[in-house]
Parts: sequence; structure tokens; C-alpha cells
Amino acid sequence: MKEVNIDELERKFQEKIDNEIKIEPKDWMPDEYRKTLIRQISQHAHSEIVGQLPEGNWVTRAPNLRRKAVLLAKIQDEAGHGLYLYSAAETLGADREETIDDLHSGKAKYSSIFNYPSLTWADMGMIGWLVDGAAIMNQVPLCRCSYGPYARAMVRVCKEESFHQRQGYEIVTKLATGTPEQKEMAQESLNRWWWPALMMFGPSDADSKHTAQSMKWKIKRHTNDELRQQFVDVTVPQAELIGLTVPDPDLKWNEETGHYDFGDINWDEFWQVVSGNGPCNKERVEARRKAKEDGMWVREAANAYAEKRAKRKAS
Ligand code: 3HC
Repeated sequence: MKEVNIDELERKFQEKIDNEIKIEPKDWMPDEYRKTLIRQISQHAHSEIVGQLPEGNWVTRAPNLRRKAVLLAKIQDEAGHGLYLYSAAETLGADREETIDDLHSGKAKYSSIFNYPSLTWADMGMIGWLVDGAAIMNQVPLCRCSYGPYARAMVRVCKEESFHQRQGYEIVTKLATGTPEQKEMAQESLNRWWWPALMMFGPSDADSKHTAQSMKWKIKRHTNDELRQQFVDVTVPQAELIGLTVPDPDLKWNEETGHYDFGDINWDEFWQVVSGNGPCNKERVEARRKAKEDGMWVREAANAYAEKRAKRKAS
């Protein structure tokens, strides 16, 4: 049997990456490439699913039928994004049940942002405008990710994220240009969501353990800090346009660099939330665990029906 030369396989693999040739499920790939993609894609999927919870809290309290319909459509989109991404993880050999159990056991991460409470209707606007706005920043480059199924899933996801971001900014604009109480509600919400939204992009490049390798493998096309900076540069003018103040006294346009300088992120808070000690971590994971238990009868019925059909076909 011919000796498999791993070095040669790795060289050819990196050559494909360098030549922008997509890696497909049946292609040879380094174990570490597979592992880091399963890690990132499954946690991305968990973020989409858990991300529905803060918004679900406001479906019955939306101010009118139109807002309720738009919010329901967005939440439904997020569920679809999650299923897309769980399927992308399965193309790498991830087992769906195990992946979901990892979320429920606390072993797997999901985006820190979803561990903050949604306290007012303005938060629905902030989540759309800031959270989906940040997600778009980070997901558009993923459309050019070296792994084919992930890149293709992102193309579909990003189209829907744009709608999510626009509807959020519309909610916030309405409030910011409404009565003094509505404007105050929007400003109070921005004060709470601004810094956690910057944390979505991950630790600083100096503290990111995966960025260097993910850039070499073209899983990432930009670093965490580059995307965070892009988000600040785009979002600050949007806040100013509707008369809201970004809660950062160090925020200042820098003519020299052509970017906004901004204050220090509270990384202690970030790592506290990432390690499970955020305001809503327990509640979020418990809600997902309960959803699985409550839905068990549907799975059992579907499996029983599938087995019966298979038996009838075989007989
Ligand atoms: N929340 C929770 N954990 C985070 C995090 C965050 N905001 N940022 C980083 N981390 C974790 C990483 O997962 C990693 O831990 P791990 O090794 O146990 O997985 C550790 O912190 C070190 O961070 P790195 O920057 O080195 O890790 P990555 O290279 O994976 O970068 C990332 C982190 C930028 C989030 C990257 O994983 C990524 O781009 N993921 C895909 C996009 C995504 O998941 N976005 C989350 C929001 S999805 C969303 O908002 C959908 C919208 O429709 C609502």
C-alpha cells in the first residue's frame, strides 16, 4: 500500500486555499481544519438559535400588527439560518444530536451578545440594527470562506440579514425621532447594547487564539479588530443621523487614519459572559434544553412514522 505523505497532502491543500479553490466535503483536509470549522460553524448555528430568544420575548408585546409580523419573520429566518449551519457542520462529519447536546451541556459556545436581556421595545430595534449589523460585517467575508458549504450557506444568510438590519434601524429611527420618551427609550437601549455589540467580534487580535490560522486557511478574510473597526466606522454616522449618542466618551474621528478612535472594551466582562456568567446565560441554555424536552414527542412521532413507512416499503 502506497505510503501516504501527509506533508505532500498538506502542501497541496494549502496550494488549493492559496489559489482560491473551494474545499468541498469529500476533499482531503487537515484534521485541524475540519475541527476548527466544526467548532466555528456549530457555534455560529447555536448563536442563530439562541439569538431567537431575546426577540421571542417581545412577539406578544409588539406595538402593532406590522411590527409583530416583521419580528416573527426575522425570528423564523434565524431558525432557518441555524438549520442551514447545523447542516453545514454535518458535511464535516458533525453529529446533529451531539452538536445540540454540546450547547445544552454548556460545552459549546454561542455569541456573547445573546446573554443580555431585552428589556424594552427599543431593544428589538437595537438587536436588528447593531447585532445583525455586526453579524453582517462578520458574515459577508464568510461568503468567501475557503470551505464551500459554509461560504454558500452565508450567501443566503446575508441576504436575509440585510432585511434584519434595516427593520431594526427603522424601529430605532422611529423612536429616536418620536416623542421625548421614545427618544429616551432608544438612547437608554443604545447605552446598554453598544459595547456588547463590539464584543461580538471576539477578543482583540492579540488575544485571539484562532485568528492567525483561520486567516491562513481563508476561513477568516479579516481579523476580529479589522471587522470591529469597520462596524464602528459604519454605525457611528447612523447613530448621529438620528440624533443618538454612542456611549463612548473616547469616540473621535481620526482624520489621519480615516477611522474612528474608540475607548477600551471591558474584556473582563466579555470573558465573564463567554464563560457562562452573563446576565442571561443560564436562562438561555435552560430555554434551549426545555425546548428539546418539550419537542421530544414530535421527534418520536416523526421517527415512528418514518420507521412504519420504511417497513411498509420493505414488505
Ligand atoms: N461570543 C462567544 N464566544 C466568543 C466570541 C463571542 N462573541 N468571540 C470569540 N469567542 C470565543 C471563540 O469561540 C473562541 O473559543 P473556542 O476556541 O472555545 O471556540 C475564543 O473565544 C477565542 O476567540 P477567537 O477570536 O480566537 O475565535 P474565532 O477565530 O472563532 O473568532 C468569531 C470568533 C469572530 C465569533 C468567529 O468564530 C466567527 O466569525 N464565527 C462566525 C460568525 C458568528 O458566529 N457570529 C456570531 C453571531 S451570529 C448572529 O448574530 C446571527 C444574527 O442573525 C442574529
